[in-house]
Amino acid sequence: MFFSEKIISKLLKLPTPFYYYDVDIFEMTIKKVIEASKNINGKIHYALKANHQNRLLGIVAKSGLGADCVSGGEIQKALENGISAESIVFAGVGKTDAEIEYAIKNKVFCLNVESIEELMVIDSIAQKMNDKVSIALRINPNVDAYTHKFITTGLEENKFGINASDLKDALEKLSNLKNVELIGIHFHIGSQITDLSVFKNLCLKINEILRFLEERRIEVNHINVGGGLGINYMYPDEHLFPDFEGYFNVFEKFLERRPNQQLHFELGRALVAQCGALICKVIFHKTSGKKHFLILDSGMNHLIRPALYEAYHKMENISKYNELNVMLYDVCGPICETTDYFGKNVLLPETQRGDYIAVRSAGAYGEVMASNYNLRGYPSVYFSDEI
Ligand SMILES: Cc1ncc(COP(=O)(O)O)c(C=O)c1O
Repeated sequence: MFFSEKIISKLLKLPTPFYYYDVDIFEMTIKKVIEASKNINGKIHYALKANHQNRLLGIVAKSGLGADCVSGGEIQKALENGISAESIVFAGVGKTDAEIEYAIKNKVFCLNVESIEELMVIDSIAQKMNDKVSIALRINPNVDAYTHKFITTGLEENKFGINASDLKDALEKLSNLKNVELIGIHFHIGSQITDLSVFKNLCLKINEILRFLEERRIEVNHINVGGGLGINYMYPDEHLFPDFEGYFNVFEKFLERRPNQQLHFELGRALVAQCGALICKVIFHKTSGKKHFLILDSGMNHLIRPALYEAYHKMENISKYNELNVMLYDVCGPICETTDYFGKNVLLPETQRGDYIAVRSAGAYGEVMASNYNLRGYPSVYFSDEI
């Protein structure tokens, strides 16, 4: 169980709202992903965008995982927390000149290039710095991730990557550039992918691209397949850890890798989502006709996923574990927006003002997206071994 009785009694004494991270679960998840990837000659880069808490990044650094960063700020954070530059990949559709310079200066392993224009800019900045930069081309493979349309990134209509049909053009341009070296190809087709056959489709597309490159006598030693492995938001206790073995097996089975080619993964959500929960307090319970609303002291300002992606998060009333009477509630935040709710028709024990509600699986894309909207302040943070 995520919440032991002992932990709950401690949590109920803390002022809300706050993010709570179970450090053991995070460490166990990292251990499991490393174990599952042992036979695949793959490097895992933790995607900082999911959660960049220093405490968690320290664990990432200690475990030897690399980092996937999408801004200069994230590169700096990774370095400050002991993640080595040679294990950092730098992606992002809008890298500024200053960020590119910063990445080059700090000698990150590879820049994942998302457009032909960006390629030219990186080359000219590297030239000015009298340096040569390792790059991978991020290719948009037009593979459907069958996830929410707001977190789909690998379709032609999405802004990410170089369209596969522009690859020939990109390679021609590249052949004339002196300050960039093509070492790999990169993909990332979306997030919260739970159907593993999507990754098989990605592999088949990558195989085509590898053949296309080989026909042109272009060798790449690195294949970065991005992140995207989903988690179980419905039943977090039964599925605290994703099926890492099944995930890696897909790439082992379907990717026609040459012996010299190393695989790279950029996992975020799958590593950090289940170790976190947002703990809030019920400020009011009100009714409107047959509806019961619970108004919490935290909402889309601290966890925007339900408002942004209509995402589901399991909720628990941790003040009322022994209450047998249940009711349906719309669980809302305090923000002046109609979309500010965590769930509608949520079955909870009979709940009162002052009860603590835990919003589960909030470790990824939760705290990192928190805002000070309505000037309600930011949530506090507690770790399981520090309370
Ligand atoms: C380029 C890139 N890599 C990796 C990730 C991490 O994805 P996830 O958290 O779904 O594993 C993202 C997320 O948006 C991304 O844009």
